[in-house]
Amino acid sequence: MSEKILSIKDLGKSFGNHEVLRKIDIEVNKGEVICIVGSSGSGKSTLLRCINRLEKQTRGQIFYHDKEVRDVQKEINDYRSKVGMVFQSFNLFNNMTVLENCMLCTRKVLHISKEEAFDRAITHLKEVGMAPYINAKPSMLSGGQKQRVAIARALVLDPEFLLCDEATSALDPEITKGILALLQKINKEMGITIIIVTHQMEVVKQVCQKVAFLSSGKMLAVGKPEQLFVWPKEREIRDFLREESDKLPATGVNLKLFFYGEGNQRPIVTQMSQELHTDFNICWAKLEDFREDVYGSLVLNMEEKDLDRACAFLDSKGVTWEVIK
Ligand SMILES: Nc1ncnc2c1ncn2[C@@H]1O[C@H](COP(=O)(O)OP(=O)(O)O)[C@@H](O)[C@H]1O
Ligand SMILES: [Mg+2]
Repeated sequence: MSEKILSIKDLGKSFGNHEVLRKIDIEVNKGEVICIVGSSGSGKSTLLRCINRLEKQTRGQIFYHDKEVRDVQKEINDYRSKVGMVFQSFNLFNNMTVLENCMLCTRKVLHISKEEAFDRAITHLKEVGMAPYINAKPSMLSGGQKQRVAIARALVLDPEFLLCDEATSALDPEITKGILALLQKINKEMGITIIIVTHQMEVVKQVCQKVAFLSSGKMLAVGKPEQLFVWPKEREIRDFLREESDKLPATGVNLKLFFYGEGNQRPIVTQMSQELHTDFNICWAKLEDFREDVYGSLVLNMEEKDLDRACAFLDSKGVTWEVIK
């Protein structure tokens, strides 16, 4: 059985009368990469700030290795020293070099010698590919390089888990891929658990083993990303994920088919067309890499009269479908 590193139970947070988080329950296992997704303002950053205790929740509890993180400064400090943070805006000190940025908090938090702080900083800067830049100032670096330094700075404290708040949102797609690959490497090789907050679905697809969907401060669903993508039961999640609606014909009916893994290989549409003696118009389609797998969806436009037979055919083949407006 997997070891629980963090349990959040019935967590709530209000600012005055404004209830920002309600009844949040999540369990995070050691070694997992979990994404918390949701649109802007849904409470993602507040949740991360509660998780690292920068913000005190108004109700509920946080358990770290089955032990409650109580409202006692020493317990909070011990817990915080196990949590690394990575932000969208990097939060590096511009008047210090890359090396100094990475050494600063180790000396303050861990009370280690300058030599040891130096060794740790160099080790982690090498890991993130920034060893050649140790004497550079952050202002001389690109966004992706700054984020690598920020990740090294989080690692020098030897955290058990990393919290990333929109860590790739300010970066362009190629750089984002590199940072996500780095986070995956850190997860796999160092065994560090990672919680990523994002509104970018690419992030979920590339790295997550578990995803939690937040909407107006409530946890709508927690599950495997493939479940969420292939057939989210909740209408709101389907709407959030929907990319095709503005491109669809206004006449007839639009039927969306979902494929995952093996399903991609089957020539389902041509088979259906032959069996039902009808033509279908493919009006939208997408195939996407999904960690090690491929996920696809396509939208068929058809006459209303063919809909029932098409749905029955898809059911008989075990293909997930949805009529979309
Ligand atoms: N310190 C604060 N004081 C008052 N309201 C806040 C504070 N921090 C966040 N909020 C409110 O909480 C809601 C969720 O914000 P946030 O957690 O930043 O969402 P997200 O990160 O998903 O965009 C917003 O309505 C925001 O205005
Ligand atoms: Mg935010």
